[in-house]
Amino acid sequence: MKRQTLFYLFFAWEIVIAQAVNASQAINAFINELNLPADSAKGIQTKLFRNVRVIEPVLSGQSIASSEVVKLACDIAQIVLGFSAVNTTPVNQTETDGTWSEVCWETPTCAILPNSDQQVSLAMKIINFFQTKFAVRSGGHSPNPGWSSVGQPGILIDLQLLHEIVVSSDASMVSLGPGNRWGDVYSALAPYQVSVIGGRINDVGVGGLIIGGGYFHLSGEYGLAADNVKNFHLVLANGAIVDANANQNSDLFWALKGGGPNFGIVTRFDMYTIPVYNTWFKVLVYTPNQAPDVLDAFAQWQENGASDSKSTVAMVISLDSIEVGLLYSEHASQPAAFAPFYDLTPAKVAIPGTNGTILEVVELFGNTGSTAAERHDYRSASSKVNAELYKDVYSFWLEQANSIYNQTGANQTFVLQPVPISLVDFGNSRGGNALGLPRENMQWWTTLIDWVDAADDDLVRGVSIATTAQWQSLSEAQGASVNFTYMNDASRDQNPLSSYGLSNVAQLKKIAAKYDPSKVFQRLQNGGFLLSNA
Ligand SMILES: Cc1cc2nc3c(=O)[nH]c(=O)nc-3n(C[C@H](O)[C@H](O)[C@H](O)COP(=O)(O)OP(=O)(O)OC[C@H]3O[C@@H](n4cnc5c(N)ncnc54)[C@H](O)[C@@H]3O)c2cc1C
Ligand SMILES: *[C@@H]1O[C@H](CO)[C@@H](O)[C@H](O)[C@H]1NC(C)=O
Ligand SMILES: *[C@@H]1O[C@H](CO)[C@@H](O)[C@H](O)[C@H]1NC(C)=O
Ligand SMILES: *[C@@H]1O[C@H](CO)[C@@H](O)[C@H](O)[C@H]1NC(C)=O
Ligand SMILES: *[C@@H]1O[C@H](CO)[C@@H](O)[C@H](O)[C@H]1NC(C)=O
Ligand SMILES: *[C@@H]1O[C@H](CO)[C@@H](O)[C@H](O)[C@H]1NC(C)=O
Ligand SMILES: *[C@@H]1O[C@H](CO)[C@@H](O)[C@H](O)[C@H]1NC(C)=O
Repeated sequence: MKRQTLFYLFFAWEIVIAQAVNASQAINAFINELNLPADSAKGIQTKLFRNVRVIEPVLSGQSIASSEVVKLACDIAQIVLGFSAVNTTPVNQTETDGTWSEVCWETPTCAILPNSDQQVSLAMKIINFFQTKFAVRSGGHSPNPGWSSVGQPGILIDLQLLHEIVVSSDASMVSLGPGNRWGDVYSALAPYQVSVIGGRINDVGVGGLIIGGGYFHLSGEYGLAADNVKNFHLVLANGAIVDANANQNSDLFWALKGGGPNFGIVTRFDMYTIPVYNTWFKVLVYTPNQAPDVLDAFAQWQENGASDSKSTVAMVISLDSIEVGLLYSEHASQPAAFAPFYDLTPAKVAIPGTNGTILEVVELFGNTGSTAAERHDYRSASSKVNAELYKDVYSFWLEQANSIYNQTGANQTFVLQPVPISLVDFGNSRGGNALGLPRENMQWWTTLIDWVDAADDDLVRGVSIATTAQWQSLSEAQGASVNFTYMNDASRDQNPLSSYGLSNVAQLKKIAAKYDPSKVFQRLQNGGFLLSNA
């Protein structure tokens, strides 16, 4: 044999030995980290050594798990977490129940349903060791395919069993598991005569909503949900369980306030409650041909009435009607803030001016929207307050949305969410958040879209895509542009994080690199608004 060949063979043999040694080192280190009783540790060790060839490619951390590796990871998860916590035969129905939009229905290799932060930590260690693709789900209300769902090979971490709601003795704080739905949260708080800034629709999940910001009816007065978090309890990529608040990991605290699924899995949100129980509300219905008047009144209220931060207006324009909810955060009688609406004659007074509770408000407003098993999407665009702009974009949208409705039966809404300066100021008073909001009186437009046939996906989504383009070009032309894209309403092809501003994005990336140095959330997470794409 030539010297070179000999050298080569020797070199190759060295590598094999080195890998075998490192594999055993890695396996033992992994098992030690899991802190298991001796017999299950032994069982796992035997299983992993028997499968060492299968897992070798992922041990360097460079290669993502194959189907075979993910299956093995799921088997190991069953031993580590218990058979009841890991479903290795998830069927479609599970997925149907789990995510709001049919667009997201996928069947993972296994679904892990942790019942504690420790179990989430173990799950992260398993995902990390095997380098498996994964997705995290709280309420499953993101309609973006792959955000909170994953197909094969992949592991779903479904947080639905983390649904604690613990109210402090003076009711000033509430600790929420991410797997709660907002309707249950408001019901649990009502006996204490307090509330919390969360979602407006009862089925929406706690986890996803807060990490994206979290807009509620009372956000003008009390900021975003994220601004009301005192402490995030979370599991980092390496399985470490940490708290993030103003004193501990304060950089991470800031990043989690709107920075999305880039830093860890939040297993508990310790939130300030808000001292709102009594409210006044009125619900009016207008016809589509009254839209210009209603939009004028809405802009007038934003310019004047909204300076009374106890007042807010919830307006949902659909193809055949316009619903307007006037809401005041204490008992009242025809609050002056809503004057522009008192001049209009609605087609119907659905609910006359009523003194009621915040729980009645969320029960009344929170059960709208489609709960049918069908395809959905949403989309986001923002602007300054400008009635002409509102009317121009609305008529553009209406024509298109009607035409697509005629072709496909798709329902779409046109929603202006008022964002007064007081919302931005409230966030700053709580130490600031990652959103980089301009100190402007704004609106955050969104739309909810429901349709049935997958063949219509592009046609239907095309309406909202064209409408966001229209917001952009018309708002620029009228000097009313705000380049902010609200994550919780952003569709799969939008890039909300990049709208937080260059310095915030740089800061977020730095924080992600600090708390997730091996980029587990960027590389292995199946979808989501990831900093690696911002
Ligand atoms: C009908 C409807 C009404 C809505 N109303 C409002 C509203 O009033 N205000 C508002 O702000 N938004 C609203 N939204 C938007 C909503 O906030 C987002 O869709 C949000 O992502 C839903 O949270 P979820 O837990 O249900 O989502 P999921 O689909 O479970 O998760 C969404 C994203 O967050 C990640 N994630 C979830 N939980 C965690 C966690 N614990 N740790 C780390 N990452 C996690 C997921 O991986 C995924 O990327 C509404 C949406 C719908 C469909
Ligand atoms: C194995 O591990 C040793 C030390 O832990 C390291 O120096 C070596 O590069 C590793 N070999 C391979 C092939 O990864
Ligand atoms: C799950 O859904 C897929 C795709 O829609 C289908 O091919 C498969 O037969 C379904 N499986 C079950 C068990 O219903
Ligand atoms: C609602 O409460 C306000 C303030 O207490 C009161 O002035 C008003 O009369 C009440 N309205 C009704 C309909 O009871
Ligand atoms: C939709 O169909 C209705 C009823 O057929 C018709 O009146 C309307 O003009 C159509 N709208 C559009 C935009 O195509
Ligand atoms: C659209 O709305 C109508 C009226 O609420 C409803 O009957 C229909 O099922 C909806 N269509 C879709 C695709 O959700
Ligand atoms: C928004 O972005 C556009 C370019 O995409 C720019 O022309 C405009 O000035 C920006 N507006 C604001 C308020 O920053």
